[in-house]
Order: sequence, then structure tokens, then C-alpha cells
Amino acid sequence: KRPVGVPDKSLARKVTKVGVIGAGLMASQLALLFVRRLQVPVVLTDLDQERVDKGVRYVIDQIDKLVAKRRLDEGTAAKLRGLVSGSVDKSVFADADFVIEAVFENLELKKQIWAEIEKIVSPEAILATNTSSLSVSAQAADLEHPERVVGFHFFNPVAVLPLLEIIRGEQTDDATLATAFAVGKELKKSSVLVKDAPAFVVNRLLTRVTSEIFQAIDAGTPLDVVNVAMDPLGLPMRPIALLQLVGPAVAYHVGETLHRAFPDRFADSPNLKRIVDAGLPVMVDDEINPEVVKLIEGGSA
Ligand code: 3HC
Repeated sequence: KRPVGVPDKSLARKVTKVGVIGAGLMASQLALLFVRRLQVPVVLTDLDQERVDKGVRYVIDQIDKLVAKRRLDEGTAAKLRGLVSGSVDKSVFADADFVIEAVFENLELKKQIWAEIEKIVSPEAILATNTSSLSVSAQAADLEHPERVVGFHFFNPVAVLPLLEIIRGEQTDDATLATAFAVGKELKKSSVLVKDAPAFVVNRLLTRVTSEIFQAIDAGTPLDVVNVAMDPLGLPMRPIALLQLVGPAVAYHVGETLHRAFPDRFADSPNLKRIVDAGLPVMVDDEINPEVVKLIEGGSA
């Protein structure tokens, strides 16, 4: 049965080439997923060749690991390796019909990227954003064809977590949304249609937890004490490990978006900001980073 608000699949367009903007943590995982499930050319771009090479290397290494685990036969693996490429030049997106971005969480940056991409791709090419918290409508607002912009939000680790939040912007048309759901199905994800609201559904919930945890830390409760506070719920990861997986900077920027939208519900934590400014990992070798503990204890929050 078709979920409410999801257009008929007959409106979906075929995807024959995928462009991934960014080659970082999420982007390279997305490139792997797309090439594995869609088996079409997937091209990654980033600011410099080193980042591009690292992203492509990640995809190739993961394909090799799937072969070693006998999840992929060598013939298919060889085909997939041949379908992945990278470039610093975005003109490689010219014939892509589905372009997804997973760059830094900054609205102006994303708008600037879409304006640039729009000049390269065809008017029908879908522009999908893996934003963690930023408005899909705002990203599309100044484009010539805002109707082809859609939110396509994955969860880390992308290969493992089944959920995909699909976000319809104010101007997203039915063909774009139908294509997004068709692609979600090909990727074997459980797609849900969610409102274009700050941090959508999952990240709003997660950030509420992170916000409460950092309010306790800011009030003087030690990091290792709040870290075990959710153990009774039996979640797969403790909050500080999850913070490390998501990346403290990403978590902070999602928190900023939510703090701006709902200041009474989401605190702007001085300690989380201090960690991000210091560029410190919160976990090292599966333990809370002692440098982070020192930083918090020495702070004035
Ligand atoms: N990348 C790729 N694959 C990974 C991985 C990673 N970072 N971490 C684990 N995996 C794979 C393993 O290879 C393994 O696969 P296999 O079965 O083929 O060998 C499988 O996941 C299970 O791993 P493990 O047995 O080592 O470990 P666990 O059973 O403890 O599971 C976990 C690890 C899946 C990461 C689990 O702890 C978990 O689900 N944690 C919660 C993660 C979560 O909540 N993510 C959402 C973050 S929010 C987000 O991403 C949104 C963004 O906008 C901020």
C-alpha cells in the first residue's frame, strides 16, 4: 500500500548516473551504497584531489571487504569497482540524473553548491540533500528549478541502518518525490516521508538527548556519569560514542539549528562548543578522551 503523501511510482524517473558532492564520512558511504544497489556509474567530487582519492579508496576498500565476507562475488565486485570514480571538476555531473550532496552543515554553502550544480546538470536532474537539519525548501528557494530538490537523509553507518528520511520541500514536485521513493527502494532502505522542519524527526529526537546530556555536563556532572545515564534503555551505543560516530561538529551544527528554532528546548552548550573548537575526538580507543575531560574540567561553563 502506498503511504499517504507518496506519489504513484509510475511518475518516477530512471536513474542512470549518480553524482555525490563531497567525499567525506557520509558521502563516501553514500557512494558505496548507490553503486552497490543501483549498479550505475557513481562519481564523487570534493574540494581537492586528496579528499576525492580518499573517498574513492573507501568505496573500493569496502567492496573488497564485501568480497572477503562473501557478500559479493568477484565478478560483480569488478563491475562495481569500474563504476566508481572521482574528480575535483563538477562538470563530471553533466549527465548525472541524481545528484546528492553530503557537505558541511551550512545553508549558504549548500545553496551556493546547488546554484553551481544547476548550471551543469539537466533541468530534470534530481538534487538530493543529505542535510542533517537544514531546510530543504530554503536550499531550493533561489534555484531555477526548485521542484527537483528533495531531502534524502541517511543515518550513520549508512550500510547498516535501514531508515531513510525523505523530505518534500515546499516546491518539490511529484515526479521528484516518486523518484526519491523509487531510489530509496532500490537502495533497500525503509523510506519515510517527513515534514521539512528543523532536523526533521530522528535528529531532533537525538539532539534533544545530546542537549540534555550537555546541559548536565555544563551544570557540573562528570562526562562519564552522564554517559551511562541511558544504559537502562539498552540502546546500541552510549551517547558519547554516538557523538563520536556522528562527529561533534555535525552534532553541534544540528544543535545550533534547533537552538535557533526552539531555544527553550535545545540548549547551546558551551562545553560542546569548546570540544568542537578544540577539534578533539570525544572517544579514543573506545574510551572517553581524557583530553576532553580535562578541557571540560578546566573550563568556565
Ligand atoms: N561503517 C560501516 N559499517 C559499520 C560501521 C561503520 N562505521 N560500524 C559497524 N559497521 C558494520 C560492521 O561492519 C558489521 O557488519 P557485518 O555484520 O557485515 O560484519 C555491523 O555493522 C555490526 O557491527 P558490529 O558487530 O561491530 O557492532 P554492533 O552490533 O555494536 O553495531 C552499530 C554497530 C551498527 C554502529 C550500532 O552500534 C548502532 O546501530 N549504533 C547506533 C548508531 C546510530 O544511532 N546512528 C545514527 C546516528 S544519527 C545520523 O547518522 C544522522 C546524521 O544526520 C547526524
